[in-house]
Amino acid sequence: MANLVQDSRKHVACYKYAIQYPLGCHYPATACLVPICSLYGAAVTTVEGVGSIKTRIHPVQERLAKCHGTQCGFCSPGMVMSIYTLLRNHPEPTPEQITKALGGNLCRCTGYRPIVESGKTFCVESTVCELKGSGKCCMDQEDGSLVNRWEKMCTKLYDEDEFQPLDPSQSKQGERITWITPATLNDLLELKANFPKAPLIMGNTELGPSIKFKNEFHPVFISPLGLPELHFVNTTDDGVTIGAGYSLAQLNDALHCIVSEQPKEKTETHRALLKHLRTLAGAQIRNMATSGGHVVSWPNFSDLNPILAAGNGTINLISKEGQRQIPLNGPFLERSPEADLKSEEIVSSVYIPYSTQWHFVFGLRMAQRQENAFAIVNAGMSVKFEDDTNTIKELQMFYGSVGPTTVSASQTCKQLIGRQWDDQMLSDACRWVLDEIYIPPAAEGGMVEYRQTLIISLLFKFYLKDPQKFPNIPEKFVSALEDFPIETPPRNSDCVDPHQPLQDPVGHPVMHQSAIKHTTGEAVYTDDMPCIDQELFLAPITSTRAHAKIISTDISEALALPGVVDVITAEDVPGDNNYQGEIFYAQNEVICVGQVVGTVAADTYAHAREAAKKVKITYEDIEPRIITIEQALEHNSFLFDEKKIEQGNVEQAFKYVDPIIEGEVHVEGQEHFYMETSSILALPKEEDKEMVLHLGTQYPTHVQEYVAAALNVPRNRIACRMKRTGGAFGGKVAKPAVLGAVSAVAANKTGRPIRFILERGDDMLITAGRHPLLGKYKIGFMNNGVIKAADVEYYVNGGSVGIILYLHKDLSYKSDNFCLCEISLCFASTQVVEACKTNLPSNTAFRGFGFPQGTVVVEAYITAVASQCNLPPEEVKEINMYKRISKTAFKQTFNPEPSRRCWKECLEKSSFYAGKLAAEEFNKKNYWKKRGLAIVPMKFSIGIPTAYYNQVAALVHIYLDGSVLVIHGGCELRQGLYTKMIQVASHELNIPQSHIHLSETSTVTVPNGVLTSESMGTDINGKAVQNACQTLMARLHPIIRKNRKGKWEDWIAKAFEESISLSVTGYFRGYQTNMDWEKGEGNAYPYYVYGAACSEVEVDCLTGAHELLRTDIFMDAAFSINPALDIGQIEGAFIQGIGFYTIEELKYSPEGVLYSRSPDDYKIPTITEIPEEFYVTLVRSQNPVAIYSSKGLGEAGMFWGSSVLFAIYDAVAAAPKTFVLSSPAAPEMIRMTCVDQFTDMIREIPRDDPSTFTPWSIRVS
Ligand SMILES: Cc1cc2nc3c(=O)[nH]c(=O)nc-3n(C[C@H](O)[C@H](O)[C@H](O)COP(=O)(O)OP(=O)(O)OC[C@H]3O[C@@H](n4cnc5c(N)ncnc54)[C@H](O)[C@@H]3O)c2cc1C
Ligand code: FES
Repeated sequence: MANLVQDSRKHVACYKYAIQYPLGCHYPATACLVPICSLYGAAVTTVEGVGSIKTRIHPVQERLAKCHGTQCGFCSPGMVMSIYTLLRNHPEPTPEQITKALGGNLCRCTGYRPIVESGKTFCVESTVCELKGSGKCCMDQEDGSLVNRWEKMCTKLYDEDEFQPLDPSQSKQGERITWITPATLNDLLELKANFPKAPLIMGNTELGPSIKFKNEFHPVFISPLGLPELHFVNTTDDGVTIGAGYSLAQLNDALHCIVSEQPKEKTETHRALLKHLRTLAGAQIRNMATSGGHVVSWPNFSDLNPILAAGNGTINLISKEGQRQIPLNGPFLERSPEADLKSEEIVSSVYIPYSTQWHFVFGLRMAQRQENAFAIVNAGMSVKFEDDTNTIKELQMFYGSVGPTTVSASQTCKQLIGRQWDDQMLSDACRWVLDEIYIPPAAEGGMVEYRQTLIISLLFKFYLKDPQKFPNIPEKFVSALEDFPIETPPRNSDCVDPHQPLQDPVGHPVMHQSAIKHTTGEAVYTDDMPCIDQELFLAPITSTRAHAKIISTDISEALALPGVVDVITAEDVPGDNNYQGEIFYAQNEVICVGQVVGTVAADTYAHAREAAKKVKITYEDIEPRIITIEQALEHNSFLFDEKKIEQGNVEQAFKYVDPIIEGEVHVEGQEHFYMETSSILALPKEEDKEMVLHLGTQYPTHVQEYVAAALNVPRNRIACRMKRTGGAFGGKVAKPAVLGAVSAVAANKTGRPIRFILERGDDMLITAGRHPLLGKYKIGFMNNGVIKAADVEYYVNGGSVGIILYLHKDLSYKSDNFCLCEISLCFASTQVVEACKTNLPSNTAFRGFGFPQGTVVVEAYITAVASQCNLPPEEVKEINMYKRISKTAFKQTFNPEPSRRCWKECLEKSSFYAGKLAAEEFNKKNYWKKRGLAIVPMKFSIGIPTAYYNQVAALVHIYLDGSVLVIHGGCELRQGLYTKMIQVASHELNIPQSHIHLSETSTVTVPNGVLTSESMGTDINGKAVQNACQTLMARLHPIIRKNRKGKWEDWIAKAFEESISLSVTGYFRGYQTNMDWEKGEGNAYPYYVYGAACSEVEVDCLTGAHELLRTDIFMDAAFSINPALDIGQIEGAFIQGIGFYTIEELKYSPEGVLYSRSPDDYKIPTITEIPEEFYVTLVRSQNPVAIYSSKGLGEAGMFWGSSVLFAIYDAVAAAPKTFVLSSPAAPEMIRMTCVDQFTDMIREIPRDDPSTFTPWSIRVS
């Protein structure tokens, strides 16, 4: 659930509330923002109250599970509550209502499509594929034109007939602060007079975060939410008055009513407000936040205040002294102290007057993400004309997010009174408004030029929107007017092989083993484990400097606080504090902001956190402080020796080419943003220095190793247990070992259990993420687009320590067909990878590990070559692609045939060329909106080129009742590994899946397990499980032969009688891969996954917003063991890829402080980022190397997001002027790339000398 994960420690509460007010309406709510006291009079339903596996699951829970809408399951209770609440209010919702209801929820795993689809099963309208309204299912299509898939076979991933019906009539049964709830308005006014400093607690959406994150403290709260005097709508001839207690959702409903009843000309302001209410925050926040709270709080980026001001709205105030009004278009919004509320006053209502015939009001906003993101800039503008003329009588312009308050461009407006509404007026208005609204170069939030550009771009939109002028604007300008609609994503077509025997689970879309538990909230994560006697909570003390000497540490104040048991530092580490380059507790020196310097152990988390803030550390900065790759190169600061792969003689090759181009590509990093933050429960044992750690990790052995080193005990004393985790994406490969050691040291010192659950902000700060990358290329090619020579250098920002740094360097493009050239020069290339050592927290593994960054560089230079040759990029790609059995740059032989098939199919089935023609036509007709398409091929390497990292063991026990327990070394991260292992065991033992159970992964049961990563989980663990099962079957075979008609249970009983062991260790040695970096060659990977994807986008050149119109993905899955899970992986990775390549931006200060530490500052995709049309096809091929001829599909889909990046560039290339490619293509980048009169105007503004200020943020790639 979007902004809820700020406090992931309380996810259970956060995600599970729906509140019913006395009004009889149901609201999903952000639980961590709902004070318990405010619930008086409300019925609260939690996800447990909706349904449970112990009693009866609710259809919402069942359908979400059966539609494969859960992976890690951490977001699932929130999804359930959103759909459940919607159904309580609207038992037969529309698809739009479903999308709207889910708008405030975040999921990092699924890509949302199956979640929406599960919700849509409650809609009255047909939920079959519908093939764009034809009402038919894709499976019924004879020609199979649109969704014809390989072998023209298509079977659904679930069966609607299995669903239980929804019964809409059901009902559920269910020291420091003073909280006062006044019973009457008079009481309220009396209280406000007596406690003038006490805040009114209404929606708590502003107060709550301030208390939690800004340490605000209020001894008294007044909670008047239930007062009827604050809940009303009053309509008069002049306008509408809305009670201050109305939530923004209720305000929305009231405005809808008014707009439908009143003539259009009267409701200009109301309609403008409605437009913003659709995207302001998410449904949960809109349900809680009140209109009164909104107008008085959040002064600078409020979406509604600028519109209310432009529409001449007022607020009605009341106190014991009486009543008065404040106009919102006066000094109030600028927070002038004399214009503010008096301390005893409250807002009783908001008055929104009707507009008149020649009065027009508009609201405009631009945010990083369409929904649920604060505006980068917003505006409310209104103009009143002299009757029936173009002459400006009144003009008002208010901007948000351009300063510390909502800002009025009053001087500009004043000067324009009496002017005609024409181009000259616009030009003057732009210049004057830029003079009037000054954004300092070091302004908080950065993006100074972009925000200035938006100020005038939004003004231009306002200018065009004016109906007076409207008939005169050229048709091609009309495109500036429309905002992108919020679409309800359609149902995808999923393909399953119908030949697969029904009784054999392998090949079937089996539901995730824990799906029902995910949706009922009964799946247990680390922090759900019950309190243990004597348990302590740990809070980290982290470095605030990037590179500094620790001069002194004073813990006395912290130790004196109530509940604090101990402060743990480097001196408390009994073993190695610096193990394999990883420092557990900083000692003497810090090397990045966010490095753990100490921890506080206390009886509650709140106490530990408070005390951590009281630890005083004095630092002395050390030079150099290296933050960016550029700075690292200047200082020759690297983590490892460079890695190089050479092919042919590149210098020689450059002599025989036509043009040579050189360029740079910057690719910024990415935060994992797994929903469950790093969580550890460390339990010290009484005897023999044993310790048990429960935690979410992809690599329990690694945790065991680090903990043993830190405690100086043999590894056999340390047990690491892992049941499941709420997402990992590579972020839980290396970091849990360090955090595990930190917790273990605390547990060892205090002798008490330690619960260490990182808050979102700490997790983002400490654990870091994907490596930012700088690619420098020099490419030699022929005029026909054939690339002959490539010299490419990749620099990654490794951070302060190099953990498992490894870059996939193999790409889709060939070397072999260069040999066909007349001059007998082969393609030659040099690829160098350098890992820069900087003073940032060490970056780490992340889905695709280097591949998603490196491939951008390749796609970028291919696009640049195409542009130089005046050829379409797809043609140059095709020319340079591997076409037959070939060798990679490191001399590994492979067959690219599936890649060719995917590419061809993708071009054909997506109607790529027709789409391009249509986009060209669209672009000719539209000046301010541009469409672009891009297709990208992929050859993704699976696994690790070190053989011993691929070995794994499994244990299979058969019990005397016939039930089977399977244990292996792989971790259930969300990907459904346990589900697939059940499928494997069921297939091999030929018994129903219900006989088989998987409980957890542990270093006790399977020692020395390798990491679950690199898309290898099913491959290697599957082989080990298969091996164990086959051994068991071989043992049982004589018994079965003698009693063929017997049952499984009979055979097991007989085996026991015959003293046959029913427990087996299975083993897989691993793929025999290797890589010789000296020679730059090897048999690096067991196999490759191929595919192609194409996307089409539309870009708003005035704001930098984009909309994803369509994506087609063709993925070579060979034989899918579980198509539902595999499609889930591809879709989830694709959406994560979209985030990486388009909207997820990590912002760092020049001093190396990470600003983006919450869902407010870091935007991952939401439901609105899914393509309007989305097709995923699993392409069948052969892969005898892997189990059941399958392929590992966990990571590769990330790269498909780059089809959106390149489609954006294609669109932008159609806009005026050119660009330099980098990633992500965030709105700022898109807008500033589209050069026009507005950006020219901004660039003409004299800029401050860069040496006179420090920019707010810097690029670290
Ligand atoms: C996750 C999240 C996302 C958001 N996204 C957006 C967004 O996209 N766009 C946007 O514009 N806003 C956004 N907001 C801000 C949101 O609109 C405001 O927090 C909300 O409107 C405040 O209302 P409230 O009822 O929750 O106020 P509270 O938090 O209850 O109170 C806030 C302050 O207002 C005072 N107050 C409240 N009511 C009155 C009254 N009647 N009279 C006098 N004083 C009063 C209180 O004393 C308190 O100081 C977001 C907030 C959150 C938490
Ligand atoms: S299933 Fe949604 S976050 Fe993992």
